[in-house]
This record gives sequence, C-alpha cells and structure tokens, in this order.
Amino acid sequence: MKILLVCLGNICRSPMAEGILRDMIQKQGLAYTTDSAGTGDYHVGEVPDQRAIRSMRDHGIDISDLRARHFRPSDFHGFDVLLAMDKSNLTNMLAIAPDEASKKKARLMMDHAPLHPLREVPDPYFGGDEGFEQVYRMLTEACSNMLKDEKG
Ligand code: 4NP
Repeated sequence: MKILLVCLGNICRSPMAEGILRDMIQKQGLAYTTDSAGTGDYHVGEVPDQRAIRSMRDHGIDISDLRARHFRPSDFHGFDVLLAMDKSNLTNMLAIAPDEASKKKARLMMDHAPLHPLREVPDPYFGGDEGFEQVYRMLTEACSNMLKDEKG
C-alpha cells in the first residue's frame, strides 16, 4: 500500500505525518510506502521547517531527509490512500482529481481519529513550538489508528 500525506506547504504537518507513519511502518514491519506533498508550491525543494524537525527529533524521529514537493493530479494514480491535513487541502486535491474513482482515495487524516475533538490538523506555521507538539500528538493518534484500520 502506498500512502500520501498532504498539507499546504509540505514543510510542517505532512512531513511530520510522513515521519511518524514511516517510523510506525518500519517498527511494525509493514510493506507500506509513504510520501508527502503540498497543495501550494511556495516551499518546493525545501527541507521541513526547523521547528518541525526539532519537534520530531525530540520524539526520536528524523525527518531532515524529506524535501517539499507540489501535489499533482497523477498522485491519485500513484497512491492508494491520500490523507489531507485539513478541509481546504482536501478541497484543493479533489479539484484536480482526474476521475471519480480517484476522489474516493482521498480523505481527511483526522477521519482516522474519530474520538479526537478536532477534525482538522491545525496549521502550526504561524504559531509557536506548542503548536508543533499538538500536531505531533494528533498525528500519532491518527496514524496509529490508520494502520489498524487499513490492516482490517
Ligand atoms: P504546512 O504549513 O501546510 O503544515 O506545511 C505551512 C507552511 C508554510 C505556509 C503555510 C502553511 N506558507 O504560507 O508559507
């Protein structure tokens, strides 16, 4: 299974989600692959935000190898599951979906964390370090459940 994590800039939320998921996949010995992308192209080619790198490193996960790229219509063919961090990301993804079958592969990340009070992962870019910690905790819950949901 190929899983794509999507946010706006691909430098905060989706690389953090990719790092968390990749770590869980490796520890569980699953044959899943991950990637992440942004619906905006402002940060293409950049490493994740330093606050995201630091926050993840505090939790023992290195995401400094990741580089931002722009989400593209062909991602609907290249991946089995496409997880958007917020509703605006999902709307922008669906707007360029090549066909109706593709749209069914896309959903909100927090759909996998139904007991969490928030349905969207808040953008931590304009806030402080505590926002990154909140994102880390939300994504850990959602990614853990997602793997359980997909394994059936
Ligand atoms: P992300 O955060 O979507 O979680 O990567 C953002 C990063 C950069 C910007 C917006 C959100 N920006 O406007 O540059």
